[in-house]
Amino acid sequence: MPPAIVAGRSPGLIHTLAVLRRMVRNPMDAWPPGVYTDDLVRTRLLGHVTLFVCAPDLVQQVLVDDAESFIKAEPMRRALEPALGQGILTAEGARWRAQRRVAAPVFRPASVNGFLPAMIAAARTMRDEWSKLTPGADIDAAHDMMRLTFDIIVETMLSGRGRIDVGRVEHSMRDFLESTGWLAALSAVHAPTWTPFPGKWRAARGHTYLRTMVAERIAERRRTGERRDDLLSLMLDATDPETGRGLDDVDVADNLLTFIAAGHETTALALAWTFYLLGRHPDIEQRVLDEIASVTGGAPLEAAHIGSLAYTRQVIFESMRVYPPVALIVRQPTRTLEVGGVTITPDDNVFIPIYAIHHHRKLWQEPDRFDPERFAPDAVRARHRYAYLPFAAGPRICIGMGFAMLEAAAILGTLLPAFRLAAAPDFVPTPKLRVTMRPAEGMPMRIERRT
Ligand code: HEM
Repeated sequence: MPPAIVAGRSPGLIHTLAVLRRMVRNPMDAWPPGVYTDDLVRTRLLGHVTLFVCAPDLVQQVLVDDAESFIKAEPMRRALEPALGQGILTAEGARWRAQRRVAAPVFRPASVNGFLPAMIAAARTMRDEWSKLTPGADIDAAHDMMRLTFDIIVETMLSGRGRIDVGRVEHSMRDFLESTGWLAALSAVHAPTWTPFPGKWRAARGHTYLRTMVAERIAERRRTGERRDDLLSLMLDATDPETGRGLDDVDVADNLLTFIAAGHETTALALAWTFYLLGRHPDIEQRVLDEIASVTGGAPLEAAHIGSLAYTRQVIFESMRVYPPVALIVRQPTRTLEVGGVTITPDDNVFIPIYAIHHHRKLWQEPDRFDPERFAPDAVRARHRYAYLPFAAGPRICIGMGFAMLEAAAILGTLLPAFRLAAAPDFVPTPKLRVTMRPAEGMPMRIERRT
């Protein structure tokens, strides 16, 4: 498989405007070529220094060992806070720590396993919808996976969807997420918060609706004392093991919206890219099908089967190496410090270019080849822990990674044995970085029923 992203020429040689144009079109195009070969790359644009950190031991310093000396960068916070408030994804310091402690047990395997039946039920609904399509029909796998993971997060979070206008929640979240690119770009050039941009009003209407809807659900549960097996009840009941305190209603609302925003598109993209890669690699696809068949005995997939799908998990991990749904993490130092011999200050940005690290010439053999054997247990043990970062690392590692892996396996295990999906032979998707890394053209695929 050819490298999907061609690194840009050295930014020093290119006029700043040209770099900025690339950054708006697809920020990954503007990354310096050294990110695929070097440990560290320092660039300067509009007077701001950006340090790209690629070597796993330096990644470990930034995300793990010196994590206390970094915060999430301002543009990301400014883009997300209007809708997500100060939830786990956006908060810093003591406020983040307390919320993370309260939410951690909610995402332990014992709780998350309880969501598997809902995940499988939603995947079966999509299987039934796909069954009604004419054989050979074209679908956009990225769009369908987005709908499916959205249904799953809404159902697992606020079960009893009869009382929720799921379509309106979906629109509102989409309008808000679409505004985040503009908000982040405007913040990066220090534009004032009132600066107008296309879709600003729609986004504001979207997050007002989302916050009202979530506040109503919370108030209703508090009023009735009703308990359900969903994330909302778990979050209302959860307490901080250190202080015994729970979350107030604003914290619960911020985090529910955070889980919707952070939890559906990422998993949907992991699945869309996986379907694409499996369609291109029939031998690997056959191994996945054989594993599913041997675990289920040919019966429909059930929750108890998921733990045995070891090769399927390897495939999902390798797909997130080739196409990481979160391709970049940005941090800002809170003090002057040294990373790999380079001094950085609170005015500088530190980029962890996950996509480039996953395709780094020094870290992976034939980095652009899709090969799930890289995630066989011995191969994983032989590698630096921080050469692979789909869920980031350190204290701010993705809290939903167990949830996402179960969900991805449940969806693949339900849909793959029923349908074969293949992209047109000449179709090469372009990974495009927005907040997540999406296929720029969607994921058009032809669907056939397996006999
Ligand atoms: C394949 C799917 C997913 C991927 C690739 C992914 C990736 C990531 C990454 C890279 C981060 C770190 C961001 C940073 O530090 O700047 C993160 C954080 C986070 N993710 Fe995920 N995620 C996925 C699914 C989920 C799900 C399903 C949920 C919730 C249901 C979730 C909730 C969160 C939250 C709350 C954070 C913030 C954690 C903190 O700052 O303490 N994610 N995710």
